[in-house]
Amino acid sequence: MMRVKSGECVSEGSSLTHSLIDFLYIRKTRSTMIVAKDILKKCKKLVIIAGHQTRGVGRRGRTWSSPPGGLWFSLVLKLHIPAHVVPFLSLAMALSVAEALRSKGLNAWIKWPNDVVVDGKKICGVLADVKISHENIAYTILGVGINTNFYLRNLPTELQNTAVTVFEILGFKLDNIELLDEVMHRFEKYIAYLKNEFVHVIRKEMEKILYGKDEEVVAICEKGVFKGILKGIGLSGSLLLETKDGIKEIESSSLKKLLVKTLHSF
Ligand code: BTN
Repeated sequence: MMRVKSGECVSEGSSLTHSLIDFLYIRKTRSTMIVAKDILKKCKKLVIIAGHQTRGVGRRGRTWSSPPGGLWFSLVLKLHIPAHVVPFLSLAMALSVAEALRSKGLNAWIKWPNDVVVDGKKICGVLADVKISHENIAYTILGVGINTNFYLRNLPTELQNTAVTVFEILGFKLDNIELLDEVMHRFEKYIAYLKNEFVHVIRKEMEKILYGKDEEVVAICEKGVFKGILKGIGLSGSLLLETKDGIKEIESSSLKKLLVKTLHSF
């Protein structure tokens, strides 16, 4: 397996590249999302990996704590796929991460829309920055943060009850580049489906490892709070809830928080 060194741009054809994606490793940066935006014009497909981020960004403008040891990366893609497939890009990434973590022995589940959890605690988050022009995607930047090789105590105190790391679960470190390889391998497969608009494949695979499926959940959304049984993923990548008034579709853009009923919650 090829190792990606600090500051090195690994060229096309390395053993990491399933379909010739360049990888750029930066030891320390503010955020790989910023780097990705800066070099967007110069590349078609690129993965930017950071050893450590000082100003990591999360969904809904939150900060993302990214200490050394984690796997922090942004994937730049310029794909020709129709706009209605867009929500499935980040879902496909979350699915790929969950499957890759499972291949390493973790009991990982997808918490809709873009989180991966183990024992209900967050181990990965996915962030999408998508630009659409003329009904097509001009570019996509998917930011992925996986809590791999560090102690929970290296995260802010307020996250220590809701997050988890690979190292804390397995008791040993995973090779981040090998894990990235596992993720990208799966993601490439799902992208091929999306290019053909086969979103049902992603929906079906997600539903197999969807956290809270067939359980009672509460979706706190911009336009209200909805309670129901989580039934699966809708045609647009939405969440399907069986409420007392029938099936309710929740769009990820409107979701603030999803609470899943477990023995310890609610
Ligand atoms: C979330 O809020 O759940 C999404 C978190 C995404 C974090 C990743 S880490 C790599 C990339 N760079 C960033 O600054 N954010 C994303």
